[in-house]
Amino acid sequence: MGIPSGLRWFHGGGATEGGLCGSQPIFNLGLKVIQALGQLSARRLRRMMGALFIYWECIMKNQLVVVIGGLSGIGRAVAEQAAAEGARVIAAGRRARPADWPSQIEAVQLDVTDDAAVQRFFADVGAFDHLVVTAGPVIPSSRLADLVPEQAMAAFNVKVFGQLRAVKYAARYMKAGGSVTLTSGLLSRKVMPGGVVKSTMNAAVEVMGKTLAKELAPLRVNVVSPGMVETGMWGPMSDAERGAMAQRAGAGIPVGRVGQGSDLAQAYLMLMQNGFMTGAVVDVDGGGLL
Ligand SMILES: NC(=O)c1ccc[n+]([C@@H]2O[C@H](COP(=O)([O-])OP(=O)(O)OC[C@H]3O[C@@H](n4cnc5c(N)ncnc54)[C@H](OP(=O)(O)O)[C@@H]3O)[C@@H](O)[C@H]2O)c1
Repeated sequence: MGIPSGLRWFHGGGATEGGLCGSQPIFNLGLKVIQALGQLSARRLRRMMGALFIYWECIMKNQLVVVIGGLSGIGRAVAEQAAAEGARVIAAGRRARPADWPSQIEAVQLDVTDDAAVQRFFADVGAFDHLVVTAGPVIPSSRLADLVPEQAMAAFNVKVFGQLRAVKYAARYMKAGGSVTLTSGLLSRKVMPGGVVKSTMNAAVEVMGKTLAKELAPLRVNVVSPGMVETGMWGPMSDAERGAMAQRAGAGIPVGRVGQGSDLAQAYLMLMQNGFMTGAVVDVDGGGLL
């Protein structure tokens, strides 16, 4: 997380290198700022806010975050936000490293349907802190009569078994205090004709997250459920078509717009950092479920 320029003088004092990262006293100091707002001089207030920013930045510093599905869309936004907050990040997916890829984030090719490759991937990564899985298939809606079972199974193999496989092979390498965040989708609980495959696989991921939160405890396992988010998941379309779709979909939900990757990334980062959250399904959908 960036520090406002007015606070850099304080940050530059080397407090992070001095081992203060994540220390409760600094957090408490930040809380006192809020209590004492009315009684402080501007100079003291600036000092105390600086301490609060250091605490926040330190939370992700020295953490290793793995994002599977991280080379595009929501996953890429998570990778970039975690890196911006000081984490070391490895992003994985089937595609080659995109041309505009940020140099500080490692990109690895991985197919979550390849059991042996997923095992090898985590053995290569070694010990790490946070796993995020956003890998998901692009599949059309289909009514039961038109459903092609092989396509449905292939989709499940990425979205459900891909996430299960990732957690299975990652768990042994995850450090104490780490977290797993999986990805479902609003259709898990918003059912409609033609959505049977998508709804069923998203619901499966949510139950998977809750079950693993108990089985793998104290490792924390949570699920983010995105609503309509403007990404490649919408399939190939022209800019005009994409704009029209975003406008139409956004007009139908309470916040009046579709989501962006950065909206979602904030929720994944929160789940990595909040040590009291496990077994949760966090809806980030602009109110789309209502
Ligand atoms: N965007 C939305 O409106 C929306 C709504 C609800 C839920 N979601 C869920 O959010 C998650 C992220 O989607 P997104 O919107 O960010 O779309 P996206 O940009 O298409 O991201 C999906 C990622 O999954 C990766 N992937 C697909 N198959 C894979 C495989 N076999 N192995 C490894 N990686 C694989 C893709 O990369 P490669 O093809 O390079 O492997 C891609 O990077 C998905 O689970 C999706 O179902 C999205």
